[in-house]
Amino acid sequence: MINYNGHEELIRKVYDQGQSHVFRYWDMLNEEEKKSLMKQLNSVDFNLMNRLFSEEDRSHITNYTPAPTVRPEKFCPEKIDEAYRTGEEHISSGKMAAFLVAGGQGSRLGYEGPKGIFPIGPVSGKSLFHFHGEKIRAYEIKYGVKIPFLVMTSVANHDETVEFFKKNSFFGLDSELVFIFPQNMIPSLDLNGKLIMESKSSIFMNPDGHGGSLSALKSSGALESLNKLGIETVSYFQVDNPLVKILDPVFTGFHIMESAEISSKAIPKAYAEEKTGVFIKTETGKTGIVEYSDMPDEKLNATDQDGRLLYSAGNTAIHLFNTDFINRITDVGDPGLPYHRAIKKIEACIDAKPQEIEGIKYEKFIFDALPICKKDMIYETVREEEFAPVKNAEGKDSPATAKELISSLCRHWLTRSGVKIPERTEIIEISPLFSVDGKDIKPETVIPDSEKVYLEKNVHI
Ligand code: UTP
Repeated sequence: MINYNGHEELIRKVYDQGQSHVFRYWDMLNEEEKKSLMKQLNSVDFNLMNRLFSEEDRSHITNYTPAPTVRPEKFCPEKIDEAYRTGEEHISSGKMAAFLVAGGQGSRLGYEGPKGIFPIGPVSGKSLFHFHGEKIRAYEIKYGVKIPFLVMTSVANHDETVEFFKKNSFFGLDSELVFIFPQNMIPSLDLNGKLIMESKSSIFMNPDGHGGSLSALKSSGALESLNKLGIETVSYFQVDNPLVKILDPVFTGFHIMESAEISSKAIPKAYAEEKTGVFIKTETGKTGIVEYSDMPDEKLNATDQDGRLLYSAGNTAIHLFNTDFINRITDVGDPGLPYHRAIKKIEACIDAKPQEIEGIKYEKFIFDALPICKKDMIYETVREEEFAPVKNAEGKDSPATAKELISSLCRHWLTRSGVKIPERTEIIEISPLFSVDGKDIKPETVIPDSEKVYLEKNVHI
């Protein structure tokens, strides 16, 4: 057994847990490396890792029915107006914050650096972070209120994210109200349940999934700041959707009118085989999500009397959370969302050399908070207006498809407002600072006679 003064108990535990291989290179490490390995091992919950490795993955739901949704087109205009006014009142009285989760590894996109820095503006080349930051600034101007902006990063991309925000002057937002904090990490395991060495002096850990965001809000102190600021509702969104309506008065209004603790936006699935998770109700009446790959064919293809897919409410990962709910579930420690496991390729340090191996990554998913809330609401929205995921480098859900969707929506806003678009204009981008929702565009707006058009208004103050 190795010796290291003051760490006897931890070393004993590591040996008892059958993980002593993590000390394989101990004699080659300098003092700093030894300290850092001890610090990392001290953060490992060995009981949790043993349990995760030995237990069955219980995250799959088997008995369920379609989840009921709120479909705005089913309501009379008066009800929509009421929701709009309720939501607008909530936003303009400073009760909302925006919460961006940006701790993912973005492996499918394969971009070096934080995904939020990826350029997505079809004309401007602006980054995803830029889209979100300017949108929040535009809402601040529209509603005459300050909007706290929470950004969850990971250990791997935190510093670069902070630098990027600083370099871009926090996109015109008050830097005191931008809270950037890293999420927690969890070790990955090899297929025999052993910790994986990433280097001679560190074990491989991965961010604990977007479901770790609620605990990270608490442990970072950001939740306490929100409580002090009197924030009642947190608008949660992902870094890779440039079309997300971060603050949506009608959605917010229904959330309040339905007395929901969590509300989620769904989009109707385009076709039965579309690879997206859908909202369902479990046999105990709780809301959940079932992944496409876990759905039997008869459920995938089932339709109602109008020929509409029964399991059609596709997950957009856009949610509203009441701060009361986040306080309640984090007050008692860990909110206990389950871990999902995935076998992934991991770059390990084997025989002191890098080698790709298969390992198990454990992650929590944000939608697992749904079954633990008292009441939730699922709101159906229009895909073209708020969903342009950037997941893959090419093909479906790629930068190319997202840029096309951004340009199409901007064209739609202009034509709906009666603006004349030159024939040769192919790509259009509208900065959120020109119009954040397309509602205030004047018909007399002049579009330059050009193939690519960018409508920008600099209202940074
Ligand atoms: P994805 O599930 O698409 O994962 O994340 P990813 O890591 O970005 O990409 P791949 O799967 O490696 O290609 C959806 C959202 O959740 C955030 C991501 O940053 C993205 O906004 N996320 C994901 C986190 O914040 N933390 C995580 O641990 C995982």
